[in-house]
Amino acid sequence: MNIQAKHTADATSVEEGLAIAAEQDAIYNNEMATETAMQNTLLTPRFYTTDFDELDAIDVSSVREDWDKLIAQMVSDPNKGHFKKNEDWDQIDWDGMEPQLKKEFIDFLISSCTAEFSGCVLYKEMKRRGNNKDITQLFQLMARDEARHAGFINDALREAGLRVNLGFLTQKKKYTYFRPKFIYYATYLSEKIGYARYITIFRHLQANPEHRFHPIFKWFEEWCNDEFSHGEAFALLMKTDPKLTSGVNVLWIKFFLTAVYATMFVRDHQRPAFHKALGVDPDWYAHAVFEKTSELSKQIFPITLDIDDPRWLKNCRALHRANVDIAEAKERGGIAGKAAQVWGSVRAARAFAALYFIPAKKHEVPAQTRLEPCY
Ligand SMILES: [Fe+2]
Ligand SMILES: [Fe+2]
Repeated sequence: MNIQAKHTADATSVEEGLAIAAEQDAIYNNEMATETAMQNTLLTPRFYTTDFDELDAIDVSSVREDWDKLIAQMVSDPNKGHFKKNEDWDQIDWDGMEPQLKKEFIDFLISSCTAEFSGCVLYKEMKRRGNNKDITQLFQLMARDEARHAGFINDALREAGLRVNLGFLTQKKKYTYFRPKFIYYATYLSEKIGYARYITIFRHLQANPEHRFHPIFKWFEEWCNDEFSHGEAFALLMKTDPKLTSGVNVLWIKFFLTAVYATMFVRDHQRPAFHKALGVDPDWYAHAVFEKTSELSKQIFPITLDIDDPRWLKNCRALHRANVDIAEAKERGGIAGKAAQVWGSVRAARAFAALYFIPAKKHEVPAQTRLEPCY
């Protein structure tokens, strides 16, 4: 008999986790949260699809020793049962929350839930389509984790009367096709920057607990360790083919580094009340996260972005201002609004190009790839 776990946190496979999520989808429905998650803009999390056969053909024998250790650690499942409310979960007065903070925090939760679930659907699909035992096992384990993460954020949203309908998203959200190598760069970076973001907030709130305005931040330490392992897996996958991190591909790596960092900068700067409540200056936070991500990505990428070059912050800010102006112009509408939107897009493209062309820092990639969480 198949006895189903009651909570996504206890699910031992992604299938089980999604079945629990589907039951919840049927009970709690919220159009606002799901509509927000459905949006596809440059700044909202997307769903991806790829050439699964090419991914399935990866041979991990050249990294076997590190691979087996990593998989064994993921199979041991140290975070099973962790991602659910317990006695550490403090009650939140959602109605009493300052309206702007509430709006930005809900936006943060919906966006995070969508991003977690985006990983889940991509990894699950790879597991479903593949025949390569190493690859399907890895993707099954990662999908399991992401289903738990998304499920937990939905628990937090439910207290505010919201829920992202994950089943609906799976079926209706637009999927963007990326070649496998772009999936490696983008996903590796999103896992590592996810680790850096969660651990930076966790450490900051450990030192300044008076700023912990919601209990979910208490879960960030174990959470970021999952993301760290996922990033390690992608580093090993890239290690199997040296071409992926050399030659013309270094330009692609630079593009993805710039895009991922710039997106984070712009998105976070749209949430001033959220960062104020956390007691975090968004410029400081962005820099702290980029520093950690850059340090980690040296494990596999031969370049890092020069985030200390004065042009870096200047053009990140220009990109942010252009995005604010584009959003305002969209609201205004009409011919003047359209023209302002075009002008905003030109400024955004110029700022992004300026960021991309700041000379990168080069370095030797170490022979030993594997890292352990260190922050
Ligand atoms: Fe995750
Ligand atoms: Fe992850």
